[in-house]
Amino acid sequence: MLSNPAGDEKRTSLHGHWSSRMAFILAVTGSAVGLGNIWKFPYIAGQNGGGAFVLVYLVCVIVIGMPVMMSEILIGRRGRRNPIATMELLGKEEGSSGNWRLVGSMGVLAGILILSYYSVIAGWTLAYVLKSATGVFAGASAEAVGAEFGGFVGNWKAIGFYHTLFMALAIFVVARGVERGLEQAVRFMVPALLVLMLVLLGYSISSGYFGQGVAFMFTPDFDKLTWDSVLAALGQAFFTLSIGMGAIMAYGAYLPEETSITGASAAVVTADTAIAILAGLAIFPLVFANGLDPADGPGLVFQTLPLAFGQMPGGVFFSTIFFVLLAFAAWTSAIGLMEPAVAWIVEHYNRTRAQATVFIGVLIWAIGFGTVLSFNVLADTTFLAGTVFDNIDYLTSNIMLPLGGLLITIFAGWVMCRNSTSDELGSAGSLYKAWRLLARFVAPIGILFVLINAVT
Ligand code: PHE
Repeated sequence: MLSNPAGDEKRTSLHGHWSSRMAFILAVTGSAVGLGNIWKFPYIAGQNGGGAFVLVYLVCVIVIGMPVMMSEILIGRRGRRNPIATMELLGKEEGSSGNWRLVGSMGVLAGILILSYYSVIAGWTLAYVLKSATGVFAGASAEAVGAEFGGFVGNWKAIGFYHTLFMALAIFVVARGVERGLEQAVRFMVPALLVLMLVLLGYSISSGYFGQGVAFMFTPDFDKLTWDSVLAALGQAFFTLSIGMGAIMAYGAYLPEETSITGASAAVVTADTAIAILAGLAIFPLVFANGLDPADGPGLVFQTLPLAFGQMPGGVFFSTIFFVLLAFAAWTSAIGLMEPAVAWIVEHYNRTRAQATVFIGVLIWAIGFGTVLSFNVLADTTFLAGTVFDNIDYLTSNIMLPLGGLLITIFAGWVMCRNSTSDELGSAGSLYKAWRLLARFVAPIGILFVLINAVT
């Protein structure tokens, strides 16, 4: 039987625990660092005019992202169950309502929807491993690289195939469980990715357009900033940190009692932000050096980077390694996107981990064809935010994640009593007070303000 955390014995998780503090930090970093940093951040910063967007994004990461992440971890660790059951349990325990489980349900749904398109883009990285290794980009011109990309995504069978392959890989790791699957996948990927980003950065500095790239990223032009781009920056902060949908809550459920939540969150937020900024610094100079358009959209990294690698000595090697690492980064993020749904099915329907993973994975795979077709057959079928892909992306990043984050901070800041949260955060000192101020006022008011202004 699970015991009450207020009693002598603490709850334990059904799914096992991280073997160490480092394992947890690696897993959360693995979930946070992904396509969001390297594929998405540069192209939405580009579409939203650069400087001012980047600044708003950084502010969102610090004053909203950090407290939301801490809230998610502490809720997860206190409940020790899947996000739906945890929110229900703590809602009742804190004298509020079991209906808080709906926050968990929205997160499970958001994870399924996000992974449905994430897997398609991750599939592109798998294809680009092969294209790089076989020298497709060696010495290629900007036009040739662009045509290669256009031809590839225009073929639904090709991108459907790689989407299928990627989902199979994701199902494989998640089915193996917390310790054997999740932990091992992240150990070397983040450091290796960092090193390769530095190599790219070096190349970018030598391109002669580094200053222009830096100016684009860091010179804020607030005239260009609309509420839509502020919402896009907020959504990106949530997306890149994996917060607002219970992924971090699910990971928090496997966190040993003695680990510092504040320290772990700070480490993850720093690593994630550093990799996104590095990606921007590597990519924008190349965009300008090759006369490309920073507002080009989802194809941006798939066109700039192969082009840069194609001209670099040892480019075939570096390009191959780069896409392998990006695929790995996507893989460790996909695990986080599935974990809430899988943990929920295992606990709620008493299924084995393998059964739950296959069921959820096949569902996500099927939904993913909406995105597969968005780049070819259905490219001209647009409504609301654009293609099916655009709509799923907008709904999840800009609506569901911020709304989830809003409710999570309200829960941690207002519904949970002071003793519960200070017990988890391990102090009542000034760090705790800062978190509580951010979680009670700054984050919820900020999120609400942006949502209301952008949506109305
Ligand atoms: N943070 C991941 C990325 O930047 C995406 C993600 C979102 C993963 C939500 C898990 C949960 O690529």
